[in-house]
Amino acid sequence: MRTHYCTDLNENDVGERVELAGWVNSYRDHGGVIFIDLRDKTGLIQLVCDPADNAEAHKVASHVRDEFVLIARGKVRLRGEGLENPRLKTGKIEVVVDELVIENRSEPMPFTLGDPNVGEDIRLKYRYLDLRREEMFETFRMRSKAAIAARNLLDSLGFLEVETPILTKSTPEGARDYLVPSRVHNGEFYALPQSPQLFKQLLMVSGFDRYFQIAKCFRDEDLRADRQPEFTQIDVEMSFCTQEDVMQVAEELLKAIFASCGREIQTPFNRITYRESMERYGNDRPDLRFDLPLVDVIDLFENCDSPIFAEIAQYKKLNRIKALKVPGGDKAFSRKIIKELESFVTKFGAKGLAYIQVKEEGLKGPILKFLGDDAVEEMKSRLDLQVGDIVFFGAGDRKTVWDYMGRLRTEVAHRMGLVDENRFEFVWVVDFPMFELEEGELHLKALHHPFTMPKNIDEEDIEAIDSIAYDVVLNGIELGGGSIRIHKLDIQQKVFKMLGIDEEEAQEKFGFLLDALKFGAPPHGGFAMGFDRIMMLLGGKESIRDVIAFPKTQSATCLLTHAPSPVDDAQLKELGIRIRKQPKIDASE
Ligand code: AMO
Repeated sequence: MRTHYCTDLNENDVGERVELAGWVNSYRDHGGVIFIDLRDKTGLIQLVCDPADNAEAHKVASHVRDEFVLIARGKVRLRGEGLENPRLKTGKIEVVVDELVIENRSEPMPFTLGDPNVGEDIRLKYRYLDLRREEMFETFRMRSKAAIAARNLLDSLGFLEVETPILTKSTPEGARDYLVPSRVHNGEFYALPQSPQLFKQLLMVSGFDRYFQIAKCFRDEDLRADRQPEFTQIDVEMSFCTQEDVMQVAEELLKAIFASCGREIQTPFNRITYRESMERYGNDRPDLRFDLPLVDVIDLFENCDSPIFAEIAQYKKLNRIKALKVPGGDKAFSRKIIKELESFVTKFGAKGLAYIQVKEEGLKGPILKFLGDDAVEEMKSRLDLQVGDIVFFGAGDRKTVWDYMGRLRTEVAHRMGLVDENRFEFVWVVDFPMFELEEGELHLKALHHPFTMPKNIDEEDIEAIDSIAYDVVLNGIELGGGSIRIHKLDIQQKVFKMLGIDEEEAQEKFGFLLDALKFGAPPHGGFAMGFDRIMMLLGGKESIRDVIAFPKTQSATCLLTHAPSPVDDAQLKELGIRIRKQPKIDASE
């Protein structure tokens, strides 16, 4: 129906008769002459309907309203002098219409496209309209390019794209499963995959050697700006490989994806161990666009006069006292800002926020009186304190201190303007511990998943058992992760046992994997990248919802289709399900 897209045209086409198709972005009646900005996926062009040129086309144009669908035919001409619009790609030309067809009408729009004050709820309800924005089209153009680049790169490296089941059995990635009731087997359920983890391992047992999939995954977990219940992974697995081989493929993959969107990135990425990351940055996904390390000062409080700090300093294995020096922070942070930072950290378990200011006349701060002169001198030199600095302290059990001091580090960096939004700072986090003690319980949990190969399984101190696992982090967000897997039955059985999964449960849940390990499983490993997260960061978006065509809300609903929704009784009966009314759960809590 068209000879050109709107922005295909330029001054070289002047005099040519063209046919265009699209939507009315806006229209103006200037004393009888009607100007229409016609929009298609490429952008805008101005149509002119002048009664002096063509009375019929002008009559049709007088009925045009926003978002009507038009087919327009006419001649390209240069705009008159002074009438050019430098903000439009086609701003030097216009099309004088001699034939105009209103192909379809539109009701008045529920919101103005691109209006920054329009709430997300209404945009999600009418997502198909929100997607008409040029910015949205650009996002999905990039997403498509990136997916194709990923496929091409992996194909060139000999990886085979294989689809794995969606109706399957639970895969343990740490979230709740979405369940699908079976009609044929009443009372039984499929689980939607949290990842293709077990199937890709089985494909290695099959000898496929190199597998990948751009896979939909489903996790019923608390949602955040970088999480959706349904998301996409670029999932990769390979055989007879070392951790280095896998990491190299992951780096090449990211490089190809970023290049497809015009961004060059440097490889290899830096590396940091899990323990170093926790101690220095308070979490295992450090934002390294800025430094601001957390510094251990627990030893300086050992014999201090504060009973609280002294008590904390007694238990160095499980407690931490961390200092965060903010250069120039004393000048930058008013008393009010410090109060705000204090209430920020108390949300994450801090009891308060002690600090020291470095003034011309010396150090200032209530905790100084508890410390001896030697400790203060040591503090000055360890933190290299300069006039104008402020130092914040976090003290308590290590998990809590890491968490709120890590968050404080990021918060402070943003407030100090230390974060370069245009920079990409990748880092590998390596040497994850194999197990984690569940809070308050003597129960072990796998830090990655239970199929990860331990380095030193016979180590007596369980906390010192490391796994061959790695995460790739970009600007403080975990992009992906993977591991070398257990390919020997006895090690897998031992790990299950340590996790408190007895033989019967292991057989019931993962019997098929345990069986497969008996039939010549090769050494293998792999990774999965969060594709939505990659696109969110590449596109500089605030939320993962901005890069998913039809996303769900923070409470896992689809405002467009109203899913999830009740089903009729007949359907439930067929499935053998009876609904017991339960109070509503707020998934965002
Ligand atoms: P993991 O659970 O770390 O590993 O997931 C890999 C990556 O998937 C992304 N991701 C998510 N993205 C959006 N919404 C979510 N709810 C969500 N959950 C995870 C993250 C994450 O880094 N099977 C292993 C991989 C492996 O070992 O090969 C796995 O799924 O970017």
